Amino acid sequence: MTSFDARPSPRIVFGAGRLAELPECVATLGVSKLLLVTDPGIVAAGHVGRATGYLEAAGLSVTVFQGTHVNPSESDIEACRSFATELQPDAIIGLGGGSSMDTAKGCNFLLHNPGRMSDYRGYGLAKNAMLPFIAIPTTAGTGSECQSYAVVSRDGSHEKMACGDPKALAKIAILDPELTVSQPQPVATLTALDALSHALESAVCTKRNPISSAYSAEAFRLIASAIRPVLAGSAGPDTRGRMLLGAAMAGSAIENSMLGAAHATANPLTARFDVAHGHAVSLMLPHVVRLNSADPAAAAIYDGLARTLGEPLLPWLEETIALAGLDTPVIDPATIPDLAADAARQWTGRFNPVPLRDPEITSLYHSSFAAAAAP
Ligand SMILES: [Fe+2]
Repeated sequence: MTSFDARPSPRIVFGAGRLAELPECVATLGVSKLLLVTDPGIVAAGHVGRATGYLEAAGLSVTVFQGTHVNPSESDIEACRSFATELQPDAIIGLGGGSSMDTAKGCNFLLHNPGRMSDYRGYGLAKNAMLPFIAIPTTAGTGSECQSYAVVSRDGSHEKMACGDPKALAKIAILDPELTVSQPQPVATLTALDALSHALESAVCTKRNPISSAYSAEAFRLIASAIRPVLAGSAGPDTRGRMLLGAAMAGSAIENSMLGAAHATANPLTARFDVAHGHAVSLMLPHVVRLNSADPAAAAIYDGLARTLGEPLLPWLEETIALAGLDTPVIDPATIPDLAADAARQWTGRFNPVPLRDPEITSLYHSSFAAAAAP
């Protein structure tokens, strides 16, 4: 066995209606002046009003920052940091999707550490303390609530920077399936596909270890049991709960290992053609599974996941993605050399079980675009 360091998980508070326990969660951290980071959609859905209502009823002070934008940039983080500097909270709550989590985490990096987010690209570069952070996801997908990374776009470009630090990990994640009811169907679809890709990529990546593999396997079991009703818009409370917990556990799997070729090849599709992250990953994932099946150890792991399903993995995966009914993006194959050059620079690709060189990347794009163009 190879050596590894397991990373901690937040305290997970899971269950329908458990947002009501937010004041008790805050009390365990010994804090009382809270900054809640969210976006206007989550305010409109009523979740922010419920959270602040519970906190204020318990005599706690909470101030809302609702300036989160999709795919937050360095400037977005700076706006939140400046708001927080004025307020001087003693803890931060992120309530919303991945963008709210990333904005809250990014603000936490910069509140007591100098510079910009680009100074913290990588892992463990923040010298000063961060505030206790409580993550409350309203989407079931990114798994950001269980990760110590903030993903932030560099100002003036689409380049995404992963800025990680053990101090940025949430102390508590409240997983309340009632909060995911408000997700618009396109969000539920794309985040579900992303979560599925997290379980599958972390399961076989070269940084996998016994801890991450346990998270990946259980994440896959939960997500596989829930994803088709979620894609169909027919998921009931129990199914939504399995999806939410599966997405969080896939986040813990990434925290303890890495991703792989589907993310490495999807990110350039998002950067160059604005294909939404979950969509881009779903376009690449079956082709990556086919490629990785050439690696005997990865193939054995896929076989284990197929036993969980009770049917072969790849056909199930292709059928599941087809059920999402996503429109095929029109991408000129002449752009493949540029996409491949971008993909080769993606950090996540280095951890794919089959080494990713130009021929493999080019072939992945060709097979994905050919499949998408097929009638
Ligand atoms: Fe992802």
